[in-house]
Amino acid sequence: MIIDILTLFPESFSYLNCSILKRAQESGLIKINIIDIRPFSKDKHKKCDDYVFGGGAGMLMSVQPIYDSVMSVKKDNSKIIFPSPSGRVLTSEQAKQLSKEEHLIFICGHYEGVDQRVCEIFHPLEISIGDYVLTGGELATMVIIDCLSRFIDGVISKESLSEESFSNNSLEYPQYTRPADFMGYKVPEVLLSGNHKEIEKYREKMSKERTKKVRPDLKDD
Ligand code: ADE
Repeated sequence: MIIDILTLFPESFSYLNCSILKRAQESGLIKINIIDIRPFSKDKHKKCDDYVFGGGAGMLMSVQPIYDSVMSVKKDNSKIIFPSPSGRVLTSEQAKQLSKEEHLIFICGHYEGVDQRVCEIFHPLEISIGDYVLTGGELATMVIIDCLSRFIDGVISKESLSEESFSNNSLEYPQYTRPADFMGYKVPEVLLSGNHKEIEKYREKMSKERTKKVRPDLKDD
């Protein structure tokens, strides 16, 4: 998969060069390009924002630099994503669908947002990462990329995906590693028993209990 990120703040993206995402890029499963929008501005001072018509607080990102930067990377198979608090909230299922795309383009808004004509021209998929407002789309872009990358074959193991939170509309059971006793805090006996049937039963029970308590809104399936 090729991912092009269009942003006024390319320095925000060092997280993508760590750990699992770093390995995914090194092994060629994902190619991430971070593209600075500013050089695309036709303004003589390379300005990329302006006041809001009709009045209102703050500045909006202008349409021209975004338009030209999108056109510099857009192909027939590109899916354009605009992270925004006005979009539908990201789900695991949506991330899984996006992981099947060949080319993603992320438009990172900043300040008060972007000129609406960006959406009128490109009809991007607007995705929110939660009901709160961030200072820009950069963090949201990284959240979406991190989440969808885990569904790309080879990025993480298949078992990790099937057991984790949200995979069956439920939260993951608690897990432990060595030592079996840390300052008197003991690992539940059943997990040390080697009885796989009992372990599975225990995990299912814990997962159900946790989901009911913390996220009763998740529908059991
Ligand atoms: N940009 C600002 N806030 C956001 C949010 N909650 N989700 C996605 N993009 C955003």
